[in-house]
Amino acid sequence: MQNNSVNPSDLNPHLQFDTASGELQFESTELSGLAQEFGTPLYVYSASSIKAAYRAYASACQGLAHVTICYAVKANSNIHILKLLAQEGAGFDIVSAGELARVIAAGGAPEKAVFAGVGKSMQEIEYALGQGVGCFNVESEAEMERVALVAEKLQRKANVSLRVNPDVDAKTHPYISTGLKENKFGVSMNAAKRVYQFANSHPWLNVHGIDCHIGSQLTDASPYFDALDRVLALLDQLAADGIEINHLDLGGGIGIRYLDETPPTPAEVLPKLIGKVQSWAQAKGRGMPTLSFEPGRSIVGNAGVLLTQVEFLKENEGKHFAIVDAAMNDLMRPAMYKALHGVVAVQNNPHATAQEYDVVGPVCESGDWLAKNRTLTIEQGDYLAILSAGAYGQTMASNYNSRGRAAEVLLENGKVTLIRRRETIEDQLRPELDV
Ligand code: LLP
Repeated sequence: MQNNSVNPSDLNPHLQFDTASGELQFESTELSGLAQEFGTPLYVYSASSIKAAYRAYASACQGLAHVTICYAVKANSNIHILKLLAQEGAGFDIVSAGELARVIAAGGAPEKAVFAGVGKSMQEIEYALGQGVGCFNVESEAEMERVALVAEKLQRKANVSLRVNPDVDAKTHPYISTGLKENKFGVSMNAAKRVYQFANSHPWLNVHGIDCHIGSQLTDASPYFDALDRVLALLDQLAADGIEINHLDLGGGIGIRYLDETPPTPAEVLPKLIGKVQSWAQAKGRGMPTLSFEPGRSIVGNAGVLLTQVEFLKENEGKHFAIVDAAMNDLMRPAMYKALHGVVAVQNNPHATAQEYDVVGPVCESGDWLAKNRTLTIEQGDYLAILSAGAYGQTMASNYNSRGRAAEVLLENGKVTLIRRRETIEDQLRPELDV
């Protein structure tokens, strides 16, 4: 693919250039109109795309076994998006008290939430247990002890799964690979037995299952199967020691297409994983465990775009820059992972000539770029759409350079709803003035 150019409709069929006007539409709504109405930078999400992506998971495991899809809230935690997913029947994968509060505010059931993360505080565990969280995915021996302590204090039994680190290479960016022994996540396979024995013997802990998540933006399914083999071998060892595990949480991680990646679909991965567990259970003469998955990016990633306006075009010694009003504080992925997102002008500009640009933001960092070497036919004032921005976009946004966070809108059946207003300067100053 030349110049990292991408056709938006290859990423999401709801993103189409209108053939008559040349305008980029999302769910048949003109993006330039949204940019004018709500201002930029603006995140725009399509509800039908989110639902379709969730349903691809739900139908991939229909009739196969008892499977829960726990949407990973960290990918996009807007309450209105969580509400959509709760209505679809999703469970939730959360990593903080704040994420649980969002799930509850969205009408999601705490019992269908699993609480992951390597450093849960006492207060967070207390809050989650008090709210009746479904399960703690525990990531160390010390954390298991902490959950037990809180459960005893609240006199409320905690369901626990142990996150194991299967030491497989997810073949993804090193910052989003989590299943190698050099990563901070999970407990080594060798230590698992000891931690389970502790949990099994504790009166306030209920051993619910085992958990494993090997990384994110996986474009090859084979690491999942390697990880599952190792987890099943561990379950055999644990069973021999009298520890029966009847639930498997296989994490998230299925990638999306940003430019020309060809990630597997849930329909290609889930039935095979579930089938493997079924064959194993049959061979061992034991019941089929329940299963859960924790997809984030593949549910919302291509359901969102970030709209931005060209502030200036600038040339430095033959290098052309499009300086736009979105920046690394709005979309951190390029600066943090050198991630590549598709970029397109949302309107045809007959007065402009094609030029190769680096698309950069106003933040005072050389790392503040959104895309490099992209051919665009634009002028000052034109709007651009940064594609595949629905996951890990707004959730990773910050106030760096004291920039307010972007507004968000949701498109649903021809209806446009503002689901987060633009942050004001007052919003930013208040915590410091209110002391
Ligand atoms: N479960 C656990 C335990 C996780 O740590 C994650 C993501 C997920 C599920 C969801 O993974 P997904 O299906 O979205 O790949 N900020 C990075 C991604 C970090 C992922 C962290 N954990 C990015 O922008 O690429």
